[in-house]
Amino acid sequence: MHANAAFWRQSSSVDNAYNHHLKKTMWPIRLNLLQKLQLMGYCFRDMPDDKHVETDSGKKSYLMESKDEAKRLDIKTDPDELRQQATWCNIRPGTKVLDVGCGPGRTTSILHSMLQPGGSIVGVDFSEERVSHAKRLFGNIPGVDFKVRDFTKPMDDLGSFDIVWVRFVLEYFKRESPEIVRNLISNLNPDGQLCLLDLDYNCLNHYELPSRMNDIIHRFMERLEERHNFDPYAGRKLYSYLFDLGFRDIEMNLMAHHLIYGEIRPEDEFNWIKKLEVASSHMRDIFNDYPGGYDAFFTDFKTFFHDPRRFTYTPIIMARGKKPLG
Ligand SMILES: C[S@@+](CC[C@H](N)C(=O)[O-])C[C@H]1O[C@@H](n2cnc3c(N)ncnc32)[C@H](O)[C@@H]1O
Repeated sequence: MHANAAFWRQSSSVDNAYNHHLKKTMWPIRLNLLQKLQLMGYCFRDMPDDKHVETDSGKKSYLMESKDEAKRLDIKTDPDELRQQATWCNIRPGTKVLDVGCGPGRTTSILHSMLQPGGSIVGVDFSEERVSHAKRLFGNIPGVDFKVRDFTKPMDDLGSFDIVWVRFVLEYFKRESPEIVRNLISNLNPDGQLCLLDLDYNCLNHYELPSRMNDIIHRFMERLEERHNFDPYAGRKLYSYLFDLGFRDIEMNLMAHHLIYGEIRPEDEFNWIKKLEVASSHMRDIFNDYPGGYDAFFTDFKTFFHDPRRFTYTPIIMARGKKPLG
C-alpha cells in the first residue's frame, strides 16, 4: 500500500526527471512505462541488514545494489559536471585511463570522448550486469573496454595507465579505502596520476531542516557508517590517503556536487527521494520515534524539498597525485 501510494505521488516527477535528463544528455535509451515502474520499484525492496559483505560465492556486494542500479547511475550522471572534474584531473587527448568502479559505462564513455584523439580507457566494475550494460552501449567504440573486476583485490594484470580515475567509489568502503588506494599504485605508469573524487558531508547539508528531521537524517547516516561500511565523510580523507602513501605533487580541489536552491529540478527531487528511500529500506526502525513514522517523514521531507527557500548542498572533493617513487 505504501509503495503504491508513494509511486503515484512521485510518478509525474519521475517522468519529468527522465524527460529532462534525456533532453539534456541525449541519452540514447528511451524507457517505456514498464521500465519506469521497474525503476521506481527498486526503492521499496527490503534489503538485509548488511549488504556490504562477502557473499557465498566470495564476491563482495554493495550498498546500492539493485537490478536498476545501472539506470540510477545513468540518470544521475551530469556530463558537464563530469567534464569539469575530468579537466581538472588532466584527462586530455592521448592519455590512457583506468576507470575504477565504472558502473554502467556512461562516465567512461564521456571520459573517453575527452581522450580523443589517440587516448583509450578501460572501465572495471564487479557487477557483471553493469559491465554487460556498458559493453552493450559503448563496447564497440574503439579505445573503450570494460572488464569485470573486484578492485578490493590487486588488478596488476590490467597493466599500467597514465591516469587512474576513482569517482564515487571509496564512500562505499569506509574500512578498506586505504588498502584499495594502495593497490591501485601498481596500475600507474611511473609518472602516472591517481585521481580520487568523493563526496563529503554526504546527504547532511540542508537548511532550514526542522530539527526532528535533521536528527533522523544524522541517525541514519550514522547507521550506514556503522553497519554498512558507508562513509559520509569520504571526501575529506582523500588527501591523507595520497599523503600517507607518498604520492607526489598532490593537489586538492572542491566543487559543488549538489547546489539546490529555488524551484526544485525534477532530477534532483528524483535522486534525493530515491537516495533516502534506498538508505531507509535498511533501517525502518529509525523512523519509529518520528511522529507519524516512516510515511510522515517522507511527506515532511518532500514538503521541505519543494520549498523554494530550501538550500541543499554537497561538496565533491577531488585529489590528484603522481605515483610515489620507489
Ligand atoms: C556509485 S557507483 C560509481 C559509478 C561511477 N564511477 C560514477 O562516477 O558515476 C559505484 C560502482 O562501484 C562498483 N563496485 C562496488 N564495489 C566494487 C568492487 N569491490 N569491485 C569493483 N566494483 C565495485 C559498483 O558496482 C558500482 O557500479
